[in-house]
Amino acid sequence: MSSSVPSPFAATDHRSVAAPLRPSSEGGHTLRRETLALDGGLVIDPATKAIAPNISMSVNNMLVPGDGAFSADGVSDLTALPFLYARWTNPTVRQLEQRMAALEDADDALATATGVAAIAATFLTLLKKGDHLIVSDVCYAGANELARRILPDYGIEVTAVNMSRIDELAAAFRPNTRLVHCESPCNPILRLTDLTAVATLAHRHGALVSVDSTLATPVATRPLALGVDLVIHSLTKFINGHGDALGGVVCGRKELVEKIRSRAGVYLGASLSAQNAWLVMRGIDTLFPRLRTMSDSALRIARFLSDHPRVTSVTYPGLTTHPQHDLAKHQMDVFGGMLTFQTEDPQAMAIHLARRLRVAHYAFSLGHQRSIVVLLDTAEMMNSTYRLQGAQLAAYRAFAGDGVFRLSIGLESVDDLVEDLDQALSP
Ligand SMILES: Cc1ncc(COP(=O)(O)O)c(C=O)c1O
Repeated sequence: MSSSVPSPFAATDHRSVAAPLRPSSEGGHTLRRETLALDGGLVIDPATKAIAPNISMSVNNMLVPGDGAFSADGVSDLTALPFLYARWTNPTVRQLEQRMAALEDADDALATATGVAAIAATFLTLLKKGDHLIVSDVCYAGANELARRILPDYGIEVTAVNMSRIDELAAAFRPNTRLVHCESPCNPILRLTDLTAVATLAHRHGALVSVDSTLATPVATRPLALGVDLVIHSLTKFINGHGDALGGVVCGRKELVEKIRSRAGVYLGASLSAQNAWLVMRGIDTLFPRLRTMSDSALRIARFLSDHPRVTSVTYPGLTTHPQHDLAKHQMDVFGGMLTFQTEDPQAMAIHLARRLRVAHYAFSLGHQRSIVVLLDTAEMMNSTYRLQGAQLAAYRAFAGDGVFRLSIGLESVDDLVEDLDQALSP
């Protein structure tokens, strides 16, 4: 297929791509977001009337005369077809994109094979040689490394900034700053970013703002309503929520998403599979109740750990001891399923926990139905990824000390989790 073929969505409103589409508002009032999580973008199969989304595995769809594929002179009019070739999108992936757009109250969304692909797609579309990117000095390691190690090789200037310091951000803008990329809460230290303040400042300087909202999820925070331009998720985490599919998404204004789709969506080639799109949609069905249960459990466990003799510090946005608890209350509807804690001699404790835990799992990743804990050692994180110094290193250490145990709360009985952590932490 010629790479010069325009995006099939170039002139199409996402709500009319795959008819019949369930409306996002009934009887003149907008449906609530819990309902949109189930209904937004849901396409009832016209042949079978199946309510659960079908998986369409086909890579390509037939060009049929009379369907708008051919003009009178017989030349293909490929822009008339929504589903041409699955690297651009396919019907199942498109349903997921519409559901994510509905959840984030965005015009449109582009789904990708992984969360990192959504971040790379955004960077590689919005930045070119000579442009300047401001990236959070602490954000998901893959995003941080992509920005600070890879992009400069392509002539893109990059500055890492502590986004919780608006004065530091204000001082970092240059005339060629095009994009500010942040996270809230940030992985792994759960420091928050005031998204309204960042967006206001960036727009004053003519820059766009992307936020990786993976840890917040659409249940906690709606970044577009706070002024952010693009919301990115690793769908692999809470949104799929079952630890069995990779995926990513970027949501935002129609023209921005179209630009990302027609450049990186096509040429990066990191398209989401229909099978994974279906799994992620099945996960979204229960996103709201999962996040509410996880948030309730996380608060209870954060309080339990705060009182535990072997724990020296706990960070959770829902605790009044979190330094940005007021911002958390303002920006998050629920405080989420992630917390961190510190202990003496974290390396020895990591081995101890990996041996002793019976309910939670000692492993990387987060946002699954099963609880997961892992040590992120500060010296190791500095070496491998962040390379912070001076005030930025001190600010990291204020949240993380020598290292944090990052705990992603699952759906187990909270009593079992408390008992498990208690016995595992004991000498
Ligand atoms: C906040 C955040 N963003 C992005 C990613 C990358 O997601 P993926 O593994 O789907 O590429 C992760 C993975 O841990 C993450 O925690």
